[in-house]
Amino acid sequence: MISLTVNGQVRQIDAEPDKPLLWVLREDLNVVGPKFGCGIAVCGACTVHVDGQPVRSCSIAVADVAGKSVTTIEGLAGGGGRLHAVQRAWIENQVPQCGYCQPGFIMAAAALLKEKPKPSDQDIDDALNNICRCGTYSAIRRAVHRAAAILAGAS
Ligand code: FES
Ligand code: FES
Repeated sequence: MISLTVNGQVRQIDAEPDKPLLWVLREDLNVVGPKFGCGIAVCGACTVHVDGQPVRSCSIAVADVAGKSVTTIEGLAGGGGRLHAVQRAWIENQVPQCGYCQPGFIMAAAALLKEKPKPSDQDIDDALNNICRCGTYSAIRRAVHRAAAILAGAS
């Protein structure tokens, strides 16, 4: 058994130690916000936070997150269903097209803003090097700047 915390709940997993975290989340725990895109740590669709750091969950074994805290898009909002600033900014800017890649971008953006509360366009491009086949990149940039303003106290 492998124990990890997922969105605040301790979970015991009976899985092969080398099973990728993405598949443990999706298949064993029915946490399907993180998406499968490439499976080789390139597209970012599977991004989650492990102890607060953005991680491509397709490319990390579940044994490597034993005892750690995993947050997925399902766990990003605050208590009482209050959306995270990034989620609010995403909605305001109508970022998603098909939506498939968006949980990964949102998780990467939330991690970036924790590290850099006022990121430049270059910081955004560097940290959010995920792939969006619908080409939402410029809307994503706008939304990250808006989320930074919300976190800084703008209404
Ligand atoms: S599915 Fe994990 S990076 Fe593409
Ligand atoms: S919104 Fe469709 S792949 Fe990004």
